[in-house]
Amino acid sequence: MCGIVAYIGHRDAAPILTEGLKRLEYRGYDSAGIAVIRGGELLIRRCVGRISALEEKIGNELTGATIGMAHTRWATHGAPTEVNAHPHCDASGRLALVHNGIIENYRVLRTFLKQHDITMDSETDTEVLAKLVGHFYDGSLENAVRRALREVRGTFGIAVLHLDEPDVVVAARRGSPLILGVGQEEYIIASDAAAIIQHTPQVIYLSDNEVVTVTREGFRTTNLEAMPVTKEVEEVEFTLEQLELGGHEHFMSKEIFEQPEALRTCMRGRVEAQEGRVVLGGLTSVARELVRCDRVILTGCGTAWHACLIGEYLIEEIARIPCEVEYASEFRYRNPLVHDRTVLLALSQSGETADTLAALREAKERGALALGIVNAVGSTIARESDAGVYLHVGPEIGVASTKAFVGQVTVLSMIAAFLGRRRHMSHAACQEYLADLGRVPDAIERALKLSAQTRQIAARFVEANNWLYLGRGLQYPIALEGALKLKEISYVHAEGLPAAEMKHGPIALINADMPVVVIAVRDHLYEKVISNIEEVRSRGGHVIAVATEGDEQIGQLAEDVLYVPDVPGPLQPLVTVVPLQLLAYHAAVPRGCDVDKPRNLAKSVTVE
Ligand code: AGP
Ligand code: GLU
Repeated sequence: MCGIVAYIGHRDAAPILTEGLKRLEYRGYDSAGIAVIRGGELLIRRCVGRISALEEKIGNELTGATIGMAHTRWATHGAPTEVNAHPHCDASGRLALVHNGIIENYRVLRTFLKQHDITMDSETDTEVLAKLVGHFYDGSLENAVRRALREVRGTFGIAVLHLDEPDVVVAARRGSPLILGVGQEEYIIASDAAAIIQHTPQVIYLSDNEVVTVTREGFRTTNLEAMPVTKEVEEVEFTLEQLELGGHEHFMSKEIFEQPEALRTCMRGRVEAQEGRVVLGGLTSVARELVRCDRVILTGCGTAWHACLIGEYLIEEIARIPCEVEYASEFRYRNPLVHDRTVLLALSQSGETADTLAALREAKERGALALGIVNAVGSTIARESDAGVYLHVGPEIGVASTKAFVGQVTVLSMIAAFLGRRRHMSHAACQEYLADLGRVPDAIERALKLSAQTRQIAARFVEANNWLYLGRGLQYPIALEGALKLKEISYVHAEGLPAAEMKHGPIALINADMPVVVIAVRDHLYEKVISNIEEVRSRGGHVIAVATEGDEQIGQLAEDVLYVPDVPGPLQPLVTVVPLQLLAYHAAVPRGCDVDKPRNLAKSVTVE
């Protein structure tokens, strides 16, 4: 998920590699490492923290090598420690490998290797792959890589070096990006063109399941069956800055658009729709205890708290376990009722939020099973919880949380089925639910097409200083989330409400200057929401509706309609939130706000 740079040529490799890593720094990472081959030695250095720390560590020690590779890690398996940092070696210590992505079947592969007396030093999935390539090595690194990758399920961008072939770099990809830069008698491999273009604009984009073998004289590309693949050399036309943001103006926009892919990664290896099964490795050790619980408390702050509200609905509806949602900041001051059959789910993108951590500790102290649903691997909440599930949506850089939110809701959807299936949900019902969940990324992709329309709507309301967001049932948390997004990044006041509550007070605010966003998808509350829309209209409010594709009736009531694809009820929030994220984004940009770093806000709130 983070970054790879590899070099072979005539220049000093180490500075090119660390410089390349710095170009990838914007992606966020937790540790870094480098390997070079020089004078018959494979030299490896790794460290936790920033690239500058790695540079300090290596000093001039690696000078003179003309082949090498480097890595920034954004941990998915095992905490961000030096031992877990890449490169990882094979059993002989002569092969080194860096990897971005997730090896889904690493447990099976680890067992296979154990049968051959090969053991691991780290907790990573990556090391298993390094050992596996080494296991198959018989004089050709290229063949060994291909052989090993045929056994792998999951995603990878990898680069591999072997001391016995000191003039070869082998790289391959599936799912994670990898690009080969073709320079003057030198080659640079990187997971992002940002690390290549200061050296050469000539690149080759590797496709899934392709392997490139690079020597000092040239390169060849093959597929996993060793068939040659012809690749075209293309010219990169972007500036560095554009590349870092993948063509987006801000990380928030990049992260909104990344959501389909982020959710595919989040569900990869976990949602087995055909088998009607959810595999959550992080919960295996506590599954029995979890299933026997009689109460679930969900807790978090801000956006994570909104995800908790949706989780409450999902777990009650699908797993039939009584749930409660608590603001993490309130939990420990309330003398909450917690006992040993209570499960606490603590949700946090950063895993460092002080209030959420305090709630987790409080619950543990009172005997609850405390689980973490966290994005940042190895963060404090991840370490202190009894067990948990990682989001695996990749680093989130924009302060306003977007892809982590849909990741949280997706994990809660999986947990609901995980519990439901063990309690009363039928196999067939679970199959259907999981198949629906698997289709959500495609639905989000369609919803992203609303970007242009939300930009136009936002432009018409640049003068509006108050917005209302209304939703009912499962869409109420989405109303809250839509309002929070607008507040956070555009500094415009916005309030989210259960639609029916409006008439008990906030209705007094409504006038012709007031945009009112109403989530009115075709669910069992549709008719009720329509009545609420009528109430707004009759006071002159301007209605922007988020509605189900094909709903013509709504067009007669709302001035603007944002149509989203129809997905089954419990999963709808994952789709309806998308136009609201886009709307907030497009409201903030023309106001000249610092979208990725809004005033007064921090990405992780580590104070109470
Ligand atoms: C979300 O857009 C906000 N920046 C904020 O509400 C955030 O969700 C909250 O601070 C919790 O952070 P966490 O997920 O890292 O714990
Ligand atoms: N899954 C690997 C790990 O946790 C690679 C993570 C990455 O892409 O940086 O070490």
